[in-house]
Amino acid sequence: MSLAQQRLRARYGDDAHTPEAACTALIEQLLDHRSVRAYLPDAVSEEMLAAIIAAAQSAASSSNLQAWSVVAVREAATRAALAECAGDQAHMREAPLQLVWLADLARLARLGAQTGRPVEALDYTEMLLVGVIDAALAAQNAAAAAESLGLGTVYIGGLRNQPETVASLLDLPPGVIAVFGMCVGHPDPTRAAALKPRPPQSVVLHREKYSLSAQDEGITSYNTTMAEFYAAQQMKVRGTWAEHSAKRIAGPHTLSGRDRLVDALHERGFKLK
Ligand SMILES: Cc1cc2nc3c(=O)[nH]c(=O)nc-3n(C[C@H](O)[C@H](O)[C@H](O)COP(=O)(O)O)c2cc1C
Repeated sequence: MSLAQQRLRARYGDDAHTPEAACTALIEQLLDHRSVRAYLPDAVSEEMLAAIIAAAQSAASSSNLQAWSVVAVREAATRAALAECAGDQAHMREAPLQLVWLADLARLARLGAQTGRPVEALDYTEMLLVGVIDAALAAQNAAAAAESLGLGTVYIGGLRNQPETVASLLDLPPGVIAVFGMCVGHPDPTRAAALKPRPPQSVVLHREKYSLSAQDEGITSYNTTMAEFYAAQQMKVRGTWAEHSAKRIAGPHTLSGRDRLVDALHERGFKLK
């Protein structure tokens, strides 16, 4: 079995259906993604960081506004403080590099001021979305680039638990907010991460029209696949993937403090009109 076939099998089980003829080295690399939460102490070199950021900057950007920035944090004390903001995630202390991806409207506001123009559109929710989407596209390019260099990554949405503290740790001006962090480092081979299965394509791929009910069969099958995965990984997950996911959205108390995100955004200078 080829490497690509092995990875498709790990993603989809026996239902692997993407024809190998459509596989490239890039697709093979993307299929191998896994979040890494165990790192060696070795630093990520400046050369690697520069290559990762070049890949990030090569992503598309809405109207080429470049409404994102990233803060590279190597200082152990700052990484530890960021880890506390994110619910004390141990891998954030362990990974030698934390990349904090930002929706950045401050640069555009400054351009407006410098060119003597109003910047009222920045007050609209649409512009926050532009910044968040730009940051996410850049970050995902960075993650794929890092993985292609043999590094591991894991996104850290936990940074949205305490946006104001993150902003003060990183000196973020008004109009800038951390969308998520990203641990980057050399994976510890003695604690290797497993490749996590995905739902069958019938769950996410709709043809011509969207259908909710057409997803039921695929979700039942994914519940079984994930039960096998949790058992193989000795993960103590209660209930099926569907139950686990439903529990995660039960109420504001399940959002780890992010139920007050609108307040934090207002405080950060986003008017959300
Ligand atoms: C935006 C975003 C935020 C995430 N936040 C966290 C986090 O705070 N901590 C963590 O350990 N993993 C986090 N993850 C990783 C997901 O749990 C992971 O991607 C998912 O379980 C799928 O596993 P895989 O990446 O290994 O395929 C995040 C992923 C994304 C995309």
